[in-house]
Amino acid sequence: MTTPTLDNFWMPFTPNRAFKAKPKLLTSAKDMHYTDVDGRQILDATAGLWCVNAGHGRAKITEAIQKQAAIMDFAPTFNMAHPLAFEFAHKLAGIMPGDLKKIFYTNSGSESADTALKIALAYQRTRGHASKTRLIGRERAYHGTGFGGISVGGIVRNRMYFGSLLTGVDHLPHTHDPELNAFSKGIPEHGADLADTLERLVALHDASTIAAVIVEPVAGSTGVLVPPKGYLQRLRSLCDKHDILLIFDEVITGFGRLGAAFGADYFGVTPDILCMAKGITNACVPMGAVAVSNRIYDTFMQTADAPIELFHGYTYSGHPLACAAGIATLEVYAEEDLFNRANTMAPYWQEAVHALRDAPHVIDIRNLGLIGGIELESRPGAPTARALEVFDRCFDKGLLIRVTGDIIALSPPLILEKAHIDQMVETIRAALKETA
Ligand SMILES: Cc1ncc(COP(=O)(O)O)c(C=O)c1O
Repeated sequence: MTTPTLDNFWMPFTPNRAFKAKPKLLTSAKDMHYTDVDGRQILDATAGLWCVNAGHGRAKITEAIQKQAAIMDFAPTFNMAHPLAFEFAHKLAGIMPGDLKKIFYTNSGSESADTALKIALAYQRTRGHASKTRLIGRERAYHGTGFGGISVGGIVRNRMYFGSLLTGVDHLPHTHDPELNAFSKGIPEHGADLADTLERLVALHDASTIAAVIVEPVAGSTGVLVPPKGYLQRLRSLCDKHDILLIFDEVITGFGRLGAAFGADYFGVTPDILCMAKGITNACVPMGAVAVSNRIYDTFMQTADAPIELFHGYTYSGHPLACAAGIATLEVYAEEDLFNRANTMAPYWQEAVHALRDAPHVIDIRNLGLIGGIELESRPGAPTARALEVFDRCFDKGLLIRVTGDIIALSPPLILEKAHIDQMVETIRAALKETA
């Protein structure tokens, strides 16, 4: 295959100038592997971008999409709908934790985060608590790239170029403390009290001004930050105490990544609103969704002051191809018991990832379910350079990893075998050894 011109595509979150010097082009994918433009097999240690949870090229899902495309390409879901949108919402509700039984469709994780924040604000107003407008995010959080998501998010470069963002936003501290919890296996022991910062924010602003707190159960994109034991429980009880909504952004932790359907199930903490995307369709068609509690939905239905209860939605909310993909994806997850499979593989994964502790440049390792984070010592004056070099070397050796800052983030498809894990770890080890 010839290399296409690289002149016109402005690539997202990519050093475009460097990419052109050494392009990486993927041309097909099956199960655990991509094939690149030179015909090389690349083992996928990142499930694409934390999203292809059932592995690549799943016939059941692609056939469902093709079938639906032939029947009906598109139908709006404003004022009318198609049966698959209801069927998929019903099936999704069947695996949601607690009473999160009402599904609002979006097209991405960013839209899910912004939708969740908007529902929280509109809910407070609809139930007569119009002064509850403040949103609380967290340092080192990633909630996508919409203005809501970057405002409650905690990544400086995702925020600093884009003006004043949303007003009325505060941040909890992030949960990563290398002094206390370095090289923790699974859930770190120390730091549940970091949730108590919410009390300080309540003391500062008063709970009557706070609408919602949003957190990722495990922060993925900022380097796999696993919350300390008891932290999410503490956050839940503080939100209850102060009548503040708790939103979980499960765009990464959803659909089996931690060895349970959702992080909420894994940690035994149910939020009021839950954001999804990525694994919802096994990434075959862009889609996201927000699940809300019956209580929130019923409040809108009973007290909204206009015929339309929520002034929000997207042209492609509940797109027929995405719904078809989503239904087939849930079937694949269930038929192959993939959430449990992630759970079964997790102990082997944990030991394998932590075996890199003695590899060059490694200063911390974190894991949960089938996620791993390997933090490298940054080169003086050149943050991210070392991880990018490891990324390049791994790709040359036939392994796709993700790097974020100087952290290697791993999130393989849940179908992986132990031999794939061994190959991932040995390739990363070899790349680290070669890295100056
Ligand atoms: C927790 C979380 N929220 C939101 C997003 C944004 O999703 P998308 O890129 O589909 O907009 C991501 C993407 O990685 C994410 O990890």
